[in-house]
Amino acid sequence: MLTHELGRTTFGAPENKDRVLTPDEAYALLNEWVKNERLRLHMQQVGWLMKCWAAEKEMLDEAGQWKWQLAGLLHDADWDQWPDEHCKKIIAELETRNIDPEVIHAIASHGPRYFGVEPETQMDKMLYAFDELSGFIHAYSLMRPNQYEGMEVKGVMKRMKDKTFAANVNRDDIKDAGEHCGIPVEALIQFAIDHQGKFQPA
Ligand SMILES: [Fe+2]
Repeated sequence: MLTHELGRTTFGAPENKDRVLTPDEAYALLNEWVKNERLRLHMQQVGWLMKCWAAEKEMLDEAGQWKWQLAGLLHDADWDQWPDEHCKKIIAELETRNIDPEVIHAIASHGPRYFGVEPETQMDKMLYAFDELSGFIHAYSLMRPNQYEGMEVKGVMKRMKDKTFAANVNRDDIKDAGEHCGIPVEALIQFAIDHQGKFQPA
């Protein structure tokens, strides 16, 4: 069901390629728009996973890594205060601010079943993959005595089968996202455990 259908599949203007918000601008927007601390943490965790992936797996330079991180950092920016306009409002804001279309497309495609926009680039696909997975692993860490320490993929997989645990995390989206990026879910989970455990909020 397309509950937040965007009604278009192209975003931003090609001439804005490589134009991004600075970290100060991005965090200012995050703090102004998102009052819910848990959501802010989620967005930062997803941003962090995106940056780590861009650096380690895509071998991108710092500018490239920041672009990936920015997409993660802002992907749910309008969810807290304007859930009905998710993710129209953040897209409009980034278009007004002449931000790189790639960043906007990644945000627009982070929930294909809701927004009606397919993830196309590797950045799109990884944002889709890390979104629900990051939230799930965070929820799991909170119920473990040593949080991320000693967390194993098989423990995460086992929890995932328990439909009552972190019930708001959509398992179908995790599976579908893994298929989109062609990476086994187990490998994505391992990457998320390794990196999210080291994340320190800004
Ligand atoms: Fe999210």
